Amino acid sequence: MSNTTWTRHHVLSLADFTSDEYDIVLQTAASFREVLSRRTKKVPTLQGHVVANLFFEPSTRTRSSFELAAKRLSADTLNFSASTSSLTKGETILDTAKTYLALGTDLMVIRHQAAGVPHVIAAEMDRLNVQVGVLNAGDGQHEHPSQALLDLFTICTLLDFEHPQLKLLNGKKIAIVGDILHSRVARSNIWSLTASGAEVHLAGPPTLLPQLFADYGTDRAGSVFLHWTVEPALEKADFVMTLRLQKERMSQHLLPSLREYHQMYGITRDRLQLCQPEVKVMHPGPVNRGVEISSDLMDDPQFSLISQQVTNGVAIRMALLYLMGSGKA
Ligand code: NCD
Repeated sequence: MSNTTWTRHHVLSLADFTSDEYDIVLQTAASFREVLSRRTKKVPTLQGHVVANLFFEPSTRTRSSFELAAKRLSADTLNFSASTSSLTKGETILDTAKTYLALGTDLMVIRHQAAGVPHVIAAEMDRLNVQVGVLNAGDGQHEHPSQALLDLFTICTLLDFEHPQLKLLNGKKIAIVGDILHSRVARSNIWSLTASGAEVHLAGPPTLLPQLFADYGTDRAGSVFLHWTVEPALEKADFVMTLRLQKERMSQHLLPSLREYHQMYGITRDRLQLCQPEVKVMHPGPVNRGVEISSDLMDDPQFSLISQQVTNGVAIRMALLYLMGSGKA
């Protein structure tokens, strides 16, 4: 497992990720996938390191995935959740981070409902010159790099199980359907998929897909197309990424009803007929069954990669923690 060219200390965004960095993460994740298939699914790589999961926003899969990834690398883990913390007593986020620093934390995995919080904490760690790596586990509507990397890994391993690499996606058509406006997953995926040379087709109602998304990725190998109906995005698509309607982030009525949304944009077996015969459907979870994707399709292993995404998430997060943490070993 080589990390000779890995120099990134924090993983906050995919906007400036290089092709080499994508490939290093993919190859490292493939090695950890092998570790996870063993009888003893654990390596001593981060023994003695402390990984703190600072989740200021509720989460199930991302938090559990990071926790398991850290444990599989033999790190000690600390888990923080906002509702039971000193934040409720008025402590600032930076003071919380400094408390975890004083506890000996080496890597901080941060989720926050406001965009930019992981960046602010990373800047503070750099200012203090303490060599603590910060990993963005989802900040507001901004980015969710580890989710996009696990999506990339899931797609690439399907195309070449042994050698997942960015260039496998060159020329592939990927549809991202749903609430693009509020989605940090979509934003991170647009960076990685356009970096790979894929054609990214975004589809959703105009209220959830503003024109400004056409400007994303214009300086990249791939290209971005916008559609306010779903059919042109699905036509001959190789992969369809569905997104949850982020109802908690909608401050006004952006949709007539969930039923109507499903009728117009929901991914169903019928609609998949427009895609390539081998098409696969993805979703970052949590899913609103029967809204963004029909319930039976979600559970159909012929089409759905949803549980593989969750499984692959552990290997990708092991890879990120390993690459960021090994410099300190
Ligand atoms: C996503 C998130 O939190 O941004 N979920 C996840 O991390 N698996 C998407 C969502 O909440 O819909």
